[in-house]
Amino acid sequence: MPRKIIIDTDPGQDDAVAILLALASPDEIEVLGITAVAGNVPLSLTAKNARIVCELAGRTDIPVYAGCDRPLIRSLVTAEHVHGKTGLDGPDLPDPQMPLADGHAVDFIIQSLRAEASGTVTLCPLGPLTNIAMAFRKAPDIVDRVQEIILMGGAYFEVGNITPTAEFNIHVDPEAADIVFGSGRPIVVMPLDVTHKALVTKPRNDAFRALGTRVGIAVAEMTDFFERFDKEKYGSAGAPLHDPCVTAYLIKPELFSGRHVNVEVETLSELTMGMTVADWWGVTDRAPNALFIGDLDADGFFALLTERLARL
Ligand code: BDR
Ligand code: CA
Repeated sequence: MPRKIIIDTDPGQDDAVAILLALASPDEIEVLGITAVAGNVPLSLTAKNARIVCELAGRTDIPVYAGCDRPLIRSLVTAEHVHGKTGLDGPDLPDPQMPLADGHAVDFIIQSLRAEASGTVTLCPLGPLTNIAMAFRKAPDIVDRVQEIILMGGAYFEVGNITPTAEFNIHVDPEAADIVFGSGRPIVVMPLDVTHKALVTKPRNDAFRALGTRVGIAVAEMTDFFERFDKEKYGSAGAPLHDPCVTAYLIKPELFSGRHVNVEVETLSELTMGMTVADWWGVTDRAPNALFIGDLDADGFFALLTERLARL
């Protein structure tokens, strides 16, 4: 039985690859819908980009909802310096023909969790956690119905990418992240500690392009564009595929390893706003609330990704 998921996202090239991987894997994953949130670029663009990606995958049947256009209490911070003006710079993809689904993303999340059997819907946030936190606040009855939350966000050993101490998704809406980490539901976190090991090296990029399909070439062109930021900043070997770690985990969790630890989100200090304080070494008596991933089998991850993208 495929696992039912909702992908909450701010595409973003790496979000796009995460979505493509999910849509290429119907035996393991049933995508109930995609909910867009403001993050890498403003909501109007993330809601558009999510539909561009569905059309690239030939899946115009997936409902795409627009959600929150700004964090719970803060001004929106975006990341055009990483993802380009459109958020999906790189390939030349047509504007989407499919319309947005009617209704608000937050209401779709609430309705889906109420409609499906309790404990059968997994939330997969790939951007700031605004939509998820709003849904939990608006309808507290849904929280216990969530099977699991598998998210990309945070960092411990890698510390920060948008500030010296904070990762982008958590920094943009720390109050929302605090609500999610305090939800009491099982959480799997893909922090920078692991995603910075999922690097699209030249041979891996060549393997995408060699698929020769629209999807393979588009993914190669996305990572061509998106790698320049990390190459310049970290001197890394290529673009980090942050968000696809989430969807790969649903298919092959054995590729990943981590520790079940306590994770708290800083919401008070301007200096360290959005830092994920992970008790990796178990030095507090705070109860573990998340499986914090630290490592992956990168070759196995890219083999899986390339094999699945070839199916689209
Ligand atoms: C996260 O921020 C965005 O730039 C990426 O899409 C990813 O979700 C990495 O910090
Ligand atoms: Ca993202």
